[in-house]
This record gives sequence, structure tokens and C-alpha cells, in this order.
Amino acid sequence: MGHLRKDFLWGGAVAAHQLEGGWNKGGKGVSVADVMTAGANGVPRQITDGVIPGKNYPNHDAIDFYGHYKDDVKLFADLGLKCFRTSIAWTRIFPNGDEEEPNEEGLQFYDDLFDELLKYGIEPVITLSHFEMPYHLVTEYGGWRNRKVIDFFTHFAEVVFKRYKNKVKYWMTFNEINNQANTAVPFFLFTNSGVEVKPGEDAEKIMYQAAHYEVVASALAVQIGHKINPDFQIGAMIAMVPLYPASPDPRDIFKAERAMQTRYWFADVQAGGAYPTWLTQYQQDKGWDLDITLADLDVLKAGKVDYIGFSYYMSNAVKAKDNEPASYKYEENVDIVKNPTLQASEWGWQIDPQGLRYGMNWFNDRFHLPQFIVENGFGAIDKIDADGHVHDDYRVDYLRQHIEQMKLAVEVDGIDLMGYTPWGFIDLVSAGTGQMDKRYGFIYVDKNDKGEGTLKRSKKDSFYWYENVIKTNGADL
Ligand code: BG6
Repeated sequence: MGHLRKDFLWGGAVAAHQLEGGWNKGGKGVSVADVMTAGANGVPRQITDGVIPGKNYPNHDAIDFYGHYKDDVKLFADLGLKCFRTSIAWTRIFPNGDEEEPNEEGLQFYDDLFDELLKYGIEPVITLSHFEMPYHLVTEYGGWRNRKVIDFFTHFAEVVFKRYKNKVKYWMTFNEINNQANTAVPFFLFTNSGVEVKPGEDAEKIMYQAAHYEVVASALAVQIGHKINPDFQIGAMIAMVPLYPASPDPRDIFKAERAMQTRYWFADVQAGGAYPTWLTQYQQDKGWDLDITLADLDVLKAGKVDYIGFSYYMSNAVKAKDNEPASYKYEENVDIVKNPTLQASEWGWQIDPQGLRYGMNWFNDRFHLPQFIVENGFGAIDKIDADGHVHDDYRVDYLRQHIEQMKLAVEVDGIDLMGYTPWGFIDLVSAGTGQMDKRYGFIYVDKNDKGEGTLKRSKKDSFYWYENVIKTNGADL
């Protein structure tokens, strides 16, 4: 029987734009997250044409981690975190994205943050690009539609790799790079790639081109990073949402297979170093003539990631249409059906702890690489009880069941797992809806959807539960 590594990285995960605030402080530029308004449950966030006065942009102030990080890190240390996953806001380092020289004040902020973490023995785990690319790259270059952005990104990567080479060992290139497989929802292409699709354009073609430039940039970053410090561990970051067949009908089985291929080819390329045949054929059959060069394919081969970082929140089920085309093309917005065996969160995210074990096995069989669960968690409306505390047993239940499955994947299936960092460790702005009241944290932050509150931090019941989980290396759940 396998067991969790002795140095298992128990941690918490966040992203710069969802908690830092200080959107225009310290020389920071405007990012794509700064032009997204607050939505609500079922109401999409609006992407505005720049920052428009009078609109509500929740990421601008967020929970002001920028101003509170010392006290917050102290709380992380109280809980006993071994690692802390966050991202470096690209716009703090290169406000517009296309500058030659970095912004020293931004670099200093992350030096200070990493020093503060290391002071308590908390290992930083860093994502280079987490839904927060410079907005200037969108308006001037069309985002990742443009090959030039590869150079801007690798320059950014090189600068931060060099600067933090003795402070940060664990990196990831692009957060949930595969969300954009769903091209029907503008949010995904915008947050992943800074791409806005104009009427009459083929969103799918644009996505495959932009994503190609991103996987090339990711592979280059892996090579650059390893040269700067051979001890760096540089991972992919994939949103694992298993797609099950809705029935044993062979058509549903194949539909689910194609759906998995469509969502996870990004990992084939980043971890396997090559495009899968079905996709190359599909792109050729479409007659798209994408800008994918032989030199790019060599870069992909030479820049394979060291580990698979992934998020896991839910699973979905898919059903074949009556008249499937030969390609069995998967369209996330129409092919998903409700799974009657599962319950869902208030936001319709189907709760499926066993799906975590399934996803881990799926990755393991394909890539034979160490894995790192860098997001998992339960978004809920928390209530402060009469005693002044949040009793979030529902969150503990969710996490306990997922950790149980994670342990089975390690102990029974023999998977090599580096760590586990639950999402939104401290309450922050939801990426999908821009809400504050969709909370994931072990630490409550007094701020609501209207932006009201004192920003006071307090420990929820889940805080004490997770503290004990870490202390016992997952033995006591
Ligand atoms: C992942 C993202 O999609 O899920 C995070 O990497 C995000 O940025 C998290 O916050 C939870 O999603 P949401 O929409 O509830 O914030």
C-alpha cells in the first residue's frame, strides 16, 4: 500500500487578481481581470471596453491582500500550511506586457511576499499566468491570437524565474489552460487568452491558434526555467472535469471519449510533447491552415512539463446527439446532461468526490508524471452564527470526501502526488461570477457582494479541521 509523501505539500491556493486588490498601486497596469464587472449566480460578468467609471469591478480592491499580506501570512502559518499557491500578476511586473524593463516595485512586492512565506517555512507555489494577462496586449495585439505574445510571455517568465530562483521552486505556466475548449462562453477565451471573438469569426479556429501559441510559450518557459535553475519543478495546470458517458450506449461512450480528448489535448501536448492524431487530423479537415510550424513542434517536444498540476471541483456527463457527425465533435454548451446520481452546489457544480480519483488515474495512465492537486473546494454562501463564527460543516464534508478519494488514489492506485492546495483558502473574489459571497475559504473575510465590509479576517470551523488534517498528514479526517 502506498502512502502520502512525508513532505506532502498541504497548502492553500489563490490567484493574484482574486485577492490582492491594489489594482493600480505600485505601478501595476490594467489586466483582463480589471475590465470584468461583477456578475451573480447565473448572471455572467460583463467584459467592458477598458475600465469604465461607475461600473463595479470587484477585482480592483478584492480583499486587499496587497495591503494585508503580512497579517494574512501569519494566519496561514497559524494553520500550519506547508505551501501557498498564488500567481504573480503579470501587470505588476510588466504593466503593459510589451515593455523591455520590468517594474521594480512589482518585483519587490513578490520578493517581500515570498520572504514572508519562507520566514514561516511556507513554500511558494507560483502560477505565471492565472486569468490576468495585461489588457494592453488585448487591445494592441489581439491577445494570444498574436505570435508576438509568446515573446512577451517568455520574457516575463525569464525575468521572474531569474529574480526568484532561490525563493520559488514550484511553478505552473497557464492556469486551467483548457477552459477555453468551451468556445461558446466568451469568459473562457477572454480569461485564458485575452481573446474577444468578433461577429462572423470562427471562435473554434481562433481558440486552436491562440492555445497553440500558449503551449509553445509554456514549453519555452519550461526550457528557460530549467536552465536558470535545474531544480525548478514546472507544471501544467489543467482543469480536470471528468466527462462520463450518460449511458452504456456505445455512442455515448465514444462521445465521452471525444469530449475528454477535446478538453485534455492540452495535457497531451504539455506533458506528452506532441499533438494527438485526432486533433491534427481534425484541424486539417477543417482547412484552417493554422500557424503551427515544424520548429514549434520541436519546441513542444523539448519543453515537457515536470508534473501535472490540476484543479478538481466536479464531473459532468455527456450524451451523443441523434445525428452525430463522423468527428463526434464535442460542444460543451450542448452535449452535457445532468447526472442523476449526483447532487450539485448552489451554482450547479456536481459534487463527485470519486471523480477526483478517476481524474487522477486518467492522468496517471497517460503521462506517468507526478501530480499536484492545486485546486479543490466548495463554493457556498457562509452565514455568521449568533456566536460570531462560521460553522461550515458542509465545506468540511466536501473536502473530507475528496481527500479520502485522493488518498485512495495514492494508497491503492499508487499515484505519486506532490500535494494538495484547496482553493480560495482565504475568501476572495469568484473568478466565474465576480461574487464575494461565493466563498471557499477557511478564513472568512468581512466583505460582501456589494463591496461592503470591514475586511476583517476570522477563522471558520474548517480552519481548525484543516489544521488537524495537516498535523496528522491526512490521517485524521
Ligand atoms: C478555477 C480557477 O476555475 O476555479 C479559479 O482557477 C476560480 O480562479 C476557481 O476561482 C473557482 O471558480 P469560481 O468561479 O467559483 O471562482
